Amino acid sequence: MLKIVTIIGARPQFIKASIVSKTFKESDFINETIIHTGQHFDFNMDRIFFNELSIPIPKYNLNINSVSHGEMTGRMIIDLEKLLLQEKPDLVLVYGDTNSTLAGALAAKKLHVKIIHVEAGLRSFNMRMPEEVNRVLTDRISDILFCPTVKAVANLENEGFNNFDCKVIKNGDVMFDLALRSKKIIDDLKFPIRKFKNQKFILCTIHREENTNDAEKLKSILNALNRIANEIEIILPLHPRSNKSIDSNKTKLNFKTYDPLGYLDMLKLLKHCALVITDSGGLQKEAFFFKKNCVTLREQTEWTELVENGFNVLAGSNENIIYDSYKAMIHKNNNFDINLYGNGNASQIILDTLYELQ
Ligand code: UD1
Repeated sequence: MLKIVTIIGARPQFIKASIVSKTFKESDFINETIIHTGQHFDFNMDRIFFNELSIPIPKYNLNINSVSHGEMTGRMIIDLEKLLLQEKPDLVLVYGDTNSTLAGALAAKKLHVKIIHVEAGLRSFNMRMPEEVNRVLTDRISDILFCPTVKAVANLENEGFNNFDCKVIKNGDVMFDLALRSKKIIDDLKFPIRKFKNQKFILCTIHREENTNDAEKLKSILNALNRIANEIEIILPLHPRSNKSIDSNKTKLNFKTYDPLGYLDMLKLLKHCALVITDSGGLQKEAFFFKKNCVTLREQTEWTELVENGFNVLAGSNENIIYDSYKAMIHKNNNFDINLYGNGNASQIILDTLYELQ
């Protein structure tokens, strides 16, 4: 048996782990233990995903959250090191680009435990983003790097990964696997916000630190959304941090916001929305999975193939650019029949690769 410790802590990691852990559970050679760092902790950011996606309950929860980046990462490393010494895994698995990812990878590396990084090779080339720092460092110390896209593999090649002692594998996107499997379920699901059932609406999210922690940028984004909301309904489920930032910003919204939604409710809204406006990485892709155009509230994206193919535009935080991008994208007819994120077997490829390792 291969003993794997998986380290997760934030909303997108619960979603990715749900499909990979299920694949592991169905195998006969993997014994997985999950550690939750506690980075996300509100019911709507955490437990809801474990419930609806049947993610195995973590054996440990470190309950580390709501502190600065350095303290969060540092405290996670201290606690994770102790648990890894106790659990003695063959491999540690981390996802994506959060502080939990970097802390997990560093704790493992210092103990000479091999690291698997799922969603490796993504780059925004903006080193002011905490996520970019986390992913660059995690990639560099990982042993098996599972890349979701051709571009992600190319990024690693450009950084010289061919010369490093590691394996780079393009497996596709595990979020695509899960979205494909969930499509059938959401057809039978009740519409999450009844008021919008028969209305045209835009699905919007904002949570990036670069937007929520900069009062001017946030004001400009909210002004743009207010202008758009005069023409079409906006559904904005709010990350807790954005909620606090919007409360303290002087800009009043002329539409209602909602608590964060579960995964399936978000997919249901995606299926029926007219457009997505977001600064989330995951939602940009999910828009594409549901054949929806997307306006991204950032200057860069890691998912450049979406921009190159015309499914996504980068609008940043400028009010007029956001408004003009909405106008350009809302009625743009795109042909989404292109394979960008694999064949829906990304988690199976991870399993097959690990089988060879035994
Ligand atoms: C983190 C990740 C980001 C990922 C995002 C998904 C890092 C550096 N960033 O950003 O890559 O896209 O998760 O959502 O790891 N909060 C709550 N309740 C919660 C969760 C957070 O109130 O359940 C508050 C925290 O107390 C904090 C703020 O939200 O004040 C930000 O949370 P944090 O975990 O630092 O980063 P995210 O913005 O969620």
